[in-house]
Order: sequence, then structure tokens, then C-alpha cells
Amino acid sequence: MTRLPATGPGEGASPPDPDALVAAAAAQVAASASLAELDDAQSALLGKRSALVAARQAIARLDPAARPQAGQLLNDARGRIEALLADRRQELHGAARASRLDADRLDLTEIISPPQRGRLHLVQRTRDELEDVFVGMGFVVAEGPEAETDWYNFEALHMPPAHPARGMWDTLYLELGEPETVLLRTHTSPVQIRLMQSQAPPIFAVMPGKCYRRDTPDARHIPTFHQIEGLVVDRGISFADLAGTIDTFTGAYFGPDIHARLRPAYFPFTEPSAEYEITCTICKGAGCRTCSQTGWIELGGCGMVDPAVFSAVGLDPEEWTGFAFGFGIDRCAQMRHEIPDMRVLLENDVRVLRQI
Ligand code: DAH
Repeated sequence: MTRLPATGPGEGASPPDPDALVAAAAAQVAASASLAELDDAQSALLGKRSALVAARQAIARLDPAARPQAGQLLNDARGRIEALLADRRQELHGAARASRLDADRLDLTEIISPPQRGRLHLVQRTRDELEDVFVGMGFVVAEGPEAETDWYNFEALHMPPAHPARGMWDTLYLELGEPETVLLRTHTSPVQIRLMQSQAPPIFAVMPGKCYRRDTPDARHIPTFHQIEGLVVDRGISFADLAGTIDTFTGAYFGPDIHARLRPAYFPFTEPSAEYEITCTICKGAGCRTCSQTGWIELGGCGMVDPAVFSAVGLDPEEWTGFAFGFGIDRCAQMRHEIPDMRVLLENDVRVLRQI
């Protein structure tokens, strides 16, 4: 065992034995079970309050001749303690890594159920199917913006400001520009205007999309809903073309048991105008809560394009004729899938969505 030289007379107590310091340190290092504990051990063994530092201070009290050797011995001891700490640190790092790897181990026997396949929402599927039917009839598909100006949503459709027909649509205005000039479109009819502005007739197009109204939800109404608009512009188009188109569509989409009827109605942008109704699919025409006991469900409106609408987009009403229609996609989904209450389409309850 290495010993510090004996202290000279009157020089005070001898500093601790460096070997004893190293032995005590070795025990403390070995007992450190984690990297955090090892950090604590390191400050206790090498820090300002450590026995090692105390021993170094004690050297000052030795006989001057003995000090260099004592200092040397303490430096050795410090070096050995540092080596012990470094070894243990490496060991603990290795153990931590091993246990991390163990936790991450890939268990090839584990059975992981495959991800559940999602599907398109019923409204989107209905929109796709409606587009397919119309594309099959020779129409093209177009789209327009959901945030519209008053001009496209009302004025160009023959509803000047303060026109009473505007009351048919409970409008949600956006706080953009002059008050009441920008709104969430209340119907897809403004896309008719955009289309006629962007291309010359003949036009055979359908325009599906989302619409918004300040409606109170009930079995047949939801405030955010979808419409598909139709527009035909050509020379010599008649009401018979409109009726034939509606009939062909109804048969193609709902099947032979469901009938369509047109009833006189009023829309500012068509003349004459009609309401388009089909047999209620829930009660097959007998009358139920969904159709308010009438046996019929209104899908939308239609009519011959009003000359004022042609004038608004710079088409000569003497030359061009056309018809238009607009009906609810959600309503079609509801009727086709016999859903008594339309609100389920917005609730997104997967127990319902899985069935339809
Ligand atoms: N835009 C009308 C509505 O939402 C429906 C409609 C009626 C569209 C007649 C048309 C039409 O294109 O000709 O109530």
C-alpha cells in the first residue's frame, strides 16, 4: 500500500491514505446503479467538498520536503478515481442501450390487425354517381367558388338588390368588402353565370358543389348541403328537352319504380319554372313523416333560362335558348338510401356511415 510520508512534528493530522480514498471511491462508483447516480458520485468524489480536495488542502500542513511526493500520490489517486468513473460510465451506457434495444425488440410472432380501409362519405359517392349519370347523357362537369359575390349569386340571376325573391334564400354574408356584397353561395346557380361568361354556347354542363343557408336543420334540411346545377344553352332548346332530361335522369339514378313530376313554380332566373319532385322512396308514395305525408319529395327546381339572365352575360336572348335545373345531392342520397332523417349525413356517426 502506498503511504504518504509521515508528517513532520507539529504539522497536524496526516492527510488520508490515497489508497483508502481510491478504495472508498471504487465502492461508491460500483454502487451507482444509474447514470444519474454516477453523476452524483462524481461530484461527491471529485467536487469541492470531496475527501480528495480535503486531502490536497492537508498537504499544506506537511513538512515542505514531503509535499511533492504527497501531491504526486494524490494526483495518482485522482487519476485512478477518474478512470473508475469513466469505466463505470461506459458500463452504464452499455446497459441503458441494451435495455432500450430489448424494449424495441421486433416480435415477429405479434399479430397486428391490418389498418381498416376507409371509404368515401355517402354524399361524395352520390355526387360521383350523379356526375356519372350526367356525363353518360353528354354533359360536362364544371365547378365554381363557394364564397360568391352578390352579383353572381343574385343580381346576374335576375334578382336586383331588394328583390323579394332573395327572401327564398336565408343568406350568410361574409365580412369582406362592402357590407352584404360577399356571401356563402346559397345555391349552385351562380356557376351558370360563370360558365356562360367563360365559354360560348352550346353548353351542356352540370355543376356540383356545396351551398350554405341559414336554415334550421330538420329531417329534410341541413344548413350546409350540396346541389348539382345543370345548364343547357343552344339554339332551339324547348321545355320538352328539359322534361325529357329530368325523366331520363330520374330513371337512370333512382330506377324504374320512382317517378318524377314537374309542378309550376317560380324562380327569378327561369321562365317558365317548375319544381322537380320524385316519389318518396321511404313510403313509396303512401305518405310519411319525411315527405310530410304528401308521398312526394322535392329534389329541386328547373325551368327555361330567363332572357334577363342571357342579357346579364351578354348572350342574345333572341338567338339562344336553354334550360337549367338545380337539385339537392344530399336529398338524392337520402332518397336513394331511404334515410328518414338527413341530419345523420352531418353527424358522422360511424355506426351509421358503415351501413350506407
Ligand atoms: N337555385 C335554386 C334553389 O337553390 C334551384 C334552381 C331552380 C336551380 C331553378 C335552377 C333552376 O337552375 O332553373 O332553390
